[in-house]
Amino acid sequence: MLDKVLDLVQKHEAYRSSCVNLIASENVVSDQVKRALGSDLAGRYVAYPKFYGGTRFMDEAWSLTEERACRVFRAKYASVNPIGGHIALMATLTTLCRPGATVASIPPEYGGYGGLAREHSMASMLGLRADYLPYDGEGYNLNTEKSLEYIAQNKPKVVVLGSSVILFPQPVREVAEEVHRYGGSLVYDGSHVMGLIAGGVFQDPLREGADVLVGSTHKSFFGPQGGLILSNDSEFMAKLSSNFLHVTQDNPHPNRVAALGVALAEAEKWGAQYASRVVLNSKRLAKLLFEEGLPVTPNTRGDFTQSHQVFLNYGGWEKGSDVRDKLEEVRIIVDAGVRVGLNEVTRRGYDEVDIESLAHAIALKLKGHEANTDILKIVDELVEKHPRIHYTL
Ligand SMILES: Cc1ncc(COP(=O)(O)O)c(C=O)c1O
Repeated sequence: MLDKVLDLVQKHEAYRSSCVNLIASENVVSDQVKRALGSDLAGRYVAYPKFYGGTRFMDEAWSLTEERACRVFRAKYASVNPIGGHIALMATLTTLCRPGATVASIPPEYGGYGGLAREHSMASMLGLRADYLPYDGEGYNLNTEKSLEYIAQNKPKVVVLGSSVILFPQPVREVAEEVHRYGGSLVYDGSHVMGLIAGGVFQDPLREGADVLVGSTHKSFFGPQGGLILSNDSEFMAKLSSNFLHVTQDNPHPNRVAALGVALAEAEKWGAQYASRVVLNSKRLAKLLFEEGLPVTPNTRGDFTQSHQVFLNYGGWEKGSDVRDKLEEVRIIVDAGVRVGLNEVTRRGYDEVDIESLAHAIALKLKGHEANTDILKIVDELVEKHPRIHYTL
């Protein structure tokens, strides 16, 4: 008899494979990545300096994964230790800051990461003083001039760029220059855009002057769920390595590390092609939804997005939740943000024509078309056309 939970897992899989998945922080993983995740490693421990026996193949896989991460993200050093983007940021801030230090980042109301909120957050737990950089809501980006003034005056120990709503590259070069004048550090949280950074189509934070690049490995990147830290600074990396075991986590989940190694090989082969398609698809969808009269607003230069996200501005979670639930009635899955992510559908091979159908389906539903069956017909056609995951080994 099938266990009740396994039965629910199967139901979940059948359901989500009948949906168009547009959650910007999710992606699909290949069968090879799943193979590593579901391997014997799922029940093992590994710790460095070496503590556990039996890890000879895992040790090699770990090193290979780090080497691949360095190549894919063009960094000298990589840590594949963190089990998520949140932990990656926490280990980094623990390494760079003492309690009481100021960390300045993108304001949460403009899509800055909740972990850096003033209260009830990673920042408050670490005893850090969270502060925010001046932001230009209409430009969907930092107000660079005012941010540089703020940094010069307040000298925050760490500035974190990168955010949860991220449509455009942020001014890393300018901010890095200012922060480095007084010995501060610039961390770029690329959680959302790691796949685009890997593919060379967004911005290249380490080359632009960031000291550390941290991020999730499963949003625009090829998965599995986990975190990654990259830097060219050997001193920082040496200190960082002592801030995992017994500090920010214990077991780094070696099955995840091996699965990340496989995902990195996929990115080495396909990362650039995938990433440019993602951006083309999101630009196309944004334009079509705008033409349909949905609340997608261009920035002051007339651009809607340069990332995997299209931002439907319904003014907050309450209306956003309604939109999410309405779209789910026709098996189109988004969050309450409403951040529409083109990462997963691109990995499923969606092209321009598919994006047109998708825009049509979203617009019909959100503009009040009564007959769900008409919209579900479009969704079913899209789902049937794209059963397979692309950009795999
Ligand atoms: C900007 C940013 N940083 C960090 C995280 C946390 O990442 P994870 O869920 O991998 O821990 C998120 C999650 O959505 C995020 O958007």
